[in-house]
Amino acid sequence: MAESSSPARQLTITRPDDWHIHLRDEDYLPACVADASRYFGRLIVMPNLVPPVTDAEAAKAYRQRILACARPGPFNEEGQDSFEPLMTLYITPETNATTVSEACRSGIVHAFKLYPAGATTNSAAGVDQIESLYPLFEAMQDQGMPLSIHGEVTDPTTDIFDREALFIEQQLSPICEKFPELKVILEHITTSDAVDFVNSASSNVAATITVHHLMYNRNDLLSGGIRPIYYCLPVLKRNTHQQALISAATSGSNKFFLGTDSAPHPKTAKENACGCAAGCYSAHAAIELYAEAFAQENALDKLEGFASFHGADFYGLARNKDTITLIEEPWEVPQTQPFGNDQLIPLRAGTTVNWRVAASNSLIGEKF
Ligand code: DOR
Ligand code: ZN
Repeated sequence: MAESSSPARQLTITRPDDWHIHLRDEDYLPACVADASRYFGRLIVMPNLVPPVTDAEAAKAYRQRILACARPGPFNEEGQDSFEPLMTLYITPETNATTVSEACRSGIVHAFKLYPAGATTNSAAGVDQIESLYPLFEAMQDQGMPLSIHGEVTDPTTDIFDREALFIEQQLSPICEKFPELKVILEHITTSDAVDFVNSASSNVAATITVHHLMYNRNDLLSGGIRPIYYCLPVLKRNTHQQALISAATSGSNKFFLGTDSAPHPKTAKENACGCAAGCYSAHAAIELYAEAFAQENALDKLEGFASFHGADFYGLARNKDTITLIEEPWEVPQTQPFGNDQLIPLRAGTTVNWRVAASNSLIGEKF
């Protein structure tokens, strides 16, 4: 008797957005934009270029460079391209209330990003004394500009696995207390401490969760040999923290939303004998991998909120109006992919991903 196979599962969701991504610049920009704009509508674009994007003028110029790499369409009902880079500014000790008002006036800046100096890739221009930024936070609170945070303490004596939890206790908690109306996004959370903090904070506090922190824990990085592909910051934590992130992402809570933190580095910088660059590249398969992670938890019904609604709602932007359709069909991720004149190793290189996008259903123009 012929075996009957059940039809592949399909899921149509409102077009998702990525609320945290690194697109890099110059030779690296086209590959990043091509991958990230496959299915995402809006992207919150991180400002940690060298030199960093610190004012509205620089953000405008960077936005133009991004748009120059993007394919046009699909278009929404108003005839606007559904792909839109949302810019952020990098906070330095010089950032002030005028920077905030100019950013608000520009209409293209959607958050200011706080990097504690030395916390991660290209954070040297960040801030040592976070308390010295309180007048800036006051101005951001008054003008409704969200604060996006890389939440790790930088004291070199603090164990790397404790840096996020300590940041929450020593820095984030006082910020949220002193500036209750300031919208705060704790980026790429990695611990149950972060999940608990965000859950117990006001509705002005939310978090992004990457797909690599949903899929992996520190054993994947360290056990049986060090695997540079999984090295990112904040570093992967133990499996109980991974489980807390999975529960938060699939809970349906509107405080958690999709932010890939896709952060490419050339293969040579990752597979460096001493000093592996921090960052995982997931833009080539992001929504597909999130679908896989949610399917694994039998939580596909929660994917649309996490990927397409909660971020837009938190940032006070309209939800996208068009849809994409995911189908449970396997495909192979290549071992490497071109990255400017270099190569990079994408997340899940050489393995099978179980979901792919079957259709990108624009209201007016077709993307492909
Ligand atoms: O792993 C990371 N890579 N974490 C960050 O915070 C920055 C990023 C990058 O820009 O490479
Ligand atoms: Zn990042």
